[in-house]
Amino acid sequence: MRTVYVNGEYLPEHEAKISIFDRGFLMSDGVYEVTTVLDGKLISFDGHAGRLLRSLRELDMSPPCDMDELLGIHRELVRLNEIENGLIYLQVTRGSDGDRDFVFPDPEATKPTLVMFTQSKPNLANNPAAGKGIKVISIDDIRWGRRDIKTVQLLYPSMGKMMAKAAGCDDAWLVEDGKVTEGTSNNAYIVKNGRIITRELSNDILHGITRAAVLRYAREAQMEVEERSFSIDEAKQADEAFVTSASTFVMPVVEIDGTPLGDGTPGPVAKRLREIYLEESLKTAI
Ligand code: PDD
Repeated sequence: MRTVYVNGEYLPEHEAKISIFDRGFLMSDGVYEVTTVLDGKLISFDGHAGRLLRSLRELDMSPPCDMDELLGIHRELVRLNEIENGLIYLQVTRGSDGDRDFVFPDPEATKPTLVMFTQSKPNLANNPAAGKGIKVISIDDIRWGRRDIKTVQLLYPSMGKMMAKAAGCDDAWLVEDGKVTEGTSNNAYIVKNGRIITRELSNDILHGITRAAVLRYAREAQMEVEERSFSIDEAKQADEAFVTSASTFVMPVVEIDGTPLGDGTPGPVAKRLREIYLEESLKTAI
């Protein structure tokens, strides 16, 4: 049984409780982060903490604690749950003022809710899907306009995954105004003539922590990187494609809307980036 964290307490998972009036539950009024644990250490903690502070600021929410304390809670959960490889999920909501109201409660009187739990994933780094690659479909991106804020409004991304599943695929790429924004829970890339192409940062996509690291490592390895949007047609004609996220690292994409990319197996750039990412991020893990 897991030990989880709720508002200052470490508890067995079945004893952890939050109010039915919590705004995360009633209004999706909350933000989250997912941080990877490899060999018992946290990958890119500073990146996740920085993005959490930014998400909170954009929503006029105050941090539930300082970031050193947050690091301590991550580490304590890793220790208590004996996590070697896996994920830490963190959610901060605007809390509960004991009723339902669209107006934000007074932040002095209503403290944010902080919930954290671990997910053990022994095969995270040796995920067999990375050897085969994943198949994606494209769907309309009908999410709200502030996808740079990592909110817990994940209904449409969940529906996208279900649409992909129903089509016999693994995931969906979201398309707006003819251009791919990102995957349901990852950033999207194509590779053409050795050049890595991924959408530029804006409010249209989540600013992936893995994206930032992968682009940095790619540039350091003298690979060409171009930050611009691309269409599904361009993606279908690419040599290869991949997605990145904290939980999948660099995951090759081998088929888009039924069209195989290249020879239909993971491409060399995605494979190399996955290796580099795992190696480099372990070096700086804390
Ligand atoms: N998802 N884009 C979206 C819409 C995401 O939900 C995520 C992360 C990413 C990649 O961000 P990062 O590299 O910081 O993980 C991009 C997490 C893993 C999730 O919801 O489980």
